[in-house]
Amino acid sequence: MVREAVIEAVAKVADLGEVALDGTGLRLRVGAEACVRLLVSAPARPKASASGTHVITLIAEETTGLTTDQVQAILAAVRRIPFTTTEMNALRGQMPLTGELPCFLPPGCLASVAPVLTVHHMTDFLVMVDAVLAMGVPAHAVTVLDKGYPYRHTDRVDAHLARQGVTVWPWTDAADALHDHTRRAATLGLPGLLIDDGGYTLPVLLEQRPDLLPRFVGLVEQTISGITRLEPWEDRIPLPIFSVAESRLKATMECYGIADAVVRNLLRLLPEEKLEGQPALVVGFGRIGEHIAAVLRSRHMRVAVHDRQLVRLIAAHERGYLTGRCVSTLLRDHRPLIILGCTGRTGLRGEHAAAISRDCYLVSTTSRDREFAVAELADEAQKVTDEGVLGTRLHMPSGAKVTLVGDGFPINFHHAESLPNMYSDLILASLLVAASTLATPEHGFTAGHNVDASNRVLESCGLLERYYTRFGPQATR
Ligand SMILES: NC(=O)c1ccc[n+]([C@@H]2O[C@H](COP(=O)([O-])OP(=O)(O)OC[C@H]3O[C@@H](n4cnc5c(N)ncnc54)[C@H](O)[C@@H]3O)[C@@H](O)[C@H]2O)c1
Repeated sequence: MVREAVIEAVAKVADLGEVALDGTGLRLRVGAEACVRLLVSAPARPKASASGTHVITLIAEETTGLTTDQVQAILAAVRRIPFTTTEMNALRGQMPLTGELPCFLPPGCLASVAPVLTVHHMTDFLVMVDAVLAMGVPAHAVTVLDKGYPYRHTDRVDAHLARQGVTVWPWTDAADALHDHTRRAATLGLPGLLIDDGGYTLPVLLEQRPDLLPRFVGLVEQTISGITRLEPWEDRIPLPIFSVAESRLKATMECYGIADAVVRNLLRLLPEEKLEGQPALVVGFGRIGEHIAAVLRSRHMRVAVHDRQLVRLIAAHERGYLTGRCVSTLLRDHRPLIILGCTGRTGLRGEHAAAISRDCYLVSTTSRDREFAVAELADEAQKVTDEGVLGTRLHMPSGAKVTLVGDGFPINFHHAESLPNMYSDLILASLLVAASTLATPEHGFTAGHNVDASNRVLESCGLLERYYTRFGPQATR
């Protein structure tokens, strides 16, 4: 199965000729003269890997007649293997709330809509897509927007979706993707439904394709930055929004997990750094920032906090953090080793650079690279260097080296899978409950924000009961 998957992936990018098995492995002729060798083996130290792990190696033995780009594309085929049945069964086992949701909701509850899904390309998403299909949506009625973050398994997730017949577009082509989606949905007689994580679709319709808005029945939004993106339209939002982002359920269940995933991935990227006893600064003491500050403190860091809202600054002060109303003063006096941006907006700008006098790491939790004004900060630097997987380093005139970890993108997705799937299960299942609600004509949601109604649905739909049965004191898992 693994061999066939690689051969299929190579055939998509090159003209595949004869395939021959010899003592060393599989030899594939590519074009007239080139050939590659495919080896599938067990790991050198099997005990150091999960059982059933295969190591797949593709060697370009002869490249005559191929361009460098073609060789790269062929070698990349080993990263584009759909998930095996064994892997998918393991993922379903980690995510019963999402995987079994079609059995708890009315049959075909999504059959009346064509969803556009803009959800992180991690393994949990595949269980969610399976559930969407099981709720009555044909694969060709689904469009997926790829946010383009470097998740650990992003190529395999893409390959899996392609094999299922799901249409995937890059987020940068959202306007064209939405146009194509409405065209395909119209042939099936279905309206569209947006399921978004970060405001990738409705703002694009409002800004660029208002003509397509009547073709959609609503928006399910997973994260605060998606809600923030809609602020310019305030009371002029024409579709009902189901806000999982602002729900009590999400605030209760997810924030600690995100904070923990952020710090865990940071430690993975900085294996030689010692955090204990070092100063840190958290900018933005909201739902995520509050938990980040607590996790850093639990790792024995000396944590300072800034928030532009006085009520949140006082909340931090009352929890015993060093606080300040001016970011530059905190940077200058507290001299943080780690600066964590959790504002959902832009918390650090070029004007703050002069206050940084030591080597430090800038780390974001906010969507895309919005949290730090990267261009402004780079303008203040004498030199900018590429630090590989760690990110980008700004060499400041003071001599301080400021490292933008993950190039300023949210750190928990940087070559990682963010939360364990057992956490994300409840949130992805909530998105699908929200979608099935908006797919029902008599949902009662009005155009614009519906935070109270969203809370009512999420807290009465049975998901919390199932979650508590699984993880509560009478846990059955
Ligand atoms: N990385 C992830 O997996 C993940 C998960 C959930 C949320 N998020 C993102 O994290 C961000 C924060 O989410 P949240 O739920 O904590 O939001 P929130 O609204 O609860 O908190 C944001 C805080 O930042 C403060 N703030 C805003 N602008 C500021 C500025 N310029 N300077 C100082 N403080 C400022 C606000 O006053 C608020 O207290 C959002 O972008 C959200 O989408 C990321």
